[in-house]
Amino acid sequence: MKAYRIFKDQEGIRGRFVDMTPDELTPGEVLIEVHYSSVNYKDALCGLGVRPIPRKFPLNGGIDLSGKILESTLPQFKVGSWVLCNGAGLSETNDGGYSELCRLTEDMVVEINESFAQESMILGTAGFTAALALYQMELNGLKPEMGPIVVTGASGGVGSVATALFSQLGYEVWSVSGKPEAKEYLGSLGAQKVLTMEELSLGSQPLGKGLFAGVVDSIGGHTLGGLLAHIKTFGNLASIGHAQAPDFQSTVLPHILRGVNLLGISSANTPIELRRKIWSRLGEGWRIKGLDKMPIQEIRFSELETAFQSLLDRKNRGRYILKIKD
Ligand SMILES: NC(=O)c1ccc[n+]([C@@H]2O[C@H](COP(=O)([O-])OP(=O)(O)OC[C@H]3O[C@@H](n4cnc5c(N)ncnc54)[C@H](OP(=O)(O)O)[C@@H]3O)[C@@H](O)[C@H]2O)c1
Repeated sequence: MKAYRIFKDQEGIRGRFVDMTPDELTPGEVLIEVHYSSVNYKDALCGLGVRPIPRKFPLNGGIDLSGKILESTLPQFKVGSWVLCNGAGLSETNDGGYSELCRLTEDMVVEINESFAQESMILGTAGFTAALALYQMELNGLKPEMGPIVVTGASGGVGSVATALFSQLGYEVWSVSGKPEAKEYLGSLGAQKVLTMEELSLGSQPLGKGLFAGVVDSIGGHTLGGLLAHIKTFGNLASIGHAQAPDFQSTVLPHILRGVNLLGISSANTPIELRRKIWSRLGEGWRIKGLDKMPIQEIRFSELETAFQSLLDRKNRGRYILKIKD
């Protein structure tokens, strides 16, 4: 079987294609014939050796997969059923989805319909994370009538799905993107405004005018601090990523004077029951209607590293889906 495996040696961390046998895979009760995977920022960091995502080496890359059960020792998971897995240790402690076969343990498996196998990987961890942010924000009181939602890194995977998902559920979405050419695309996903950070002109005061009910933030850095200062009373900021920078500057004022919630979103560590609930919503009531408007590039193994580079160079729009099985 062919796999894209991450190695660590004297030259650093780097992925490469290998032929391996199923016996070499990390153990699990369910053997999956992988049909699709996806390309996330984290996959790119890991494959090109920018950041050490795996916690042991060597390990197959790919934090997402969907496919069919080939073997199972668990009665609840039948041979021939379609499943997906995202995060949950893939490419961190468990061999990941960039492989023709993968073994999963019970608490990693999410059952799906066959018809959702491809679509779920268009969404991948990025889409799951956008949905998890929505779930956590609504759990903390967010409602469409409270005001606009700002989505940062909007042309990326998380940002694109967040723009589409929040919009279709009745939220007024303001998508913030550094790519002027993404304006039309984000508008087609439902964004009511598409802005650059400069156009938002937030200033640097610790507490500014309350402008937004919520923020879905993929970039961190000074942008996160600036946005926190402008969240309305009892609003929420879902902190997802740090494409700009991991550190940010802020004060306690938004929290103690306005009751603003800073919510941590961790897709990789989401407990399996919540994981299944979120995916079930994405397959039904939260099914993304604008997916056909999203630029989706279906790639093969040979194009994987080019896709990684485009994510790191900030040249991507929408999602890459990796087709593994014909
Ligand atoms: N917490 C979690 O569970 C979780 C899950 C998934 C992803 N993440 C993290 O969330 C972030 C987004 O993931 P993704 O898969 O959506 O990545 P992506 O597809 O590469 O999108 C990231 C977007 O952020 C913006 N961006 C990139 N570099 C930037 C920079 N230096 N300064 C400001 N903006 C920048 C770009 O959007 P524009 O050009 O439109 O501005 C880019 O399209 C990553 O940091 C990823 O590691 C976290």
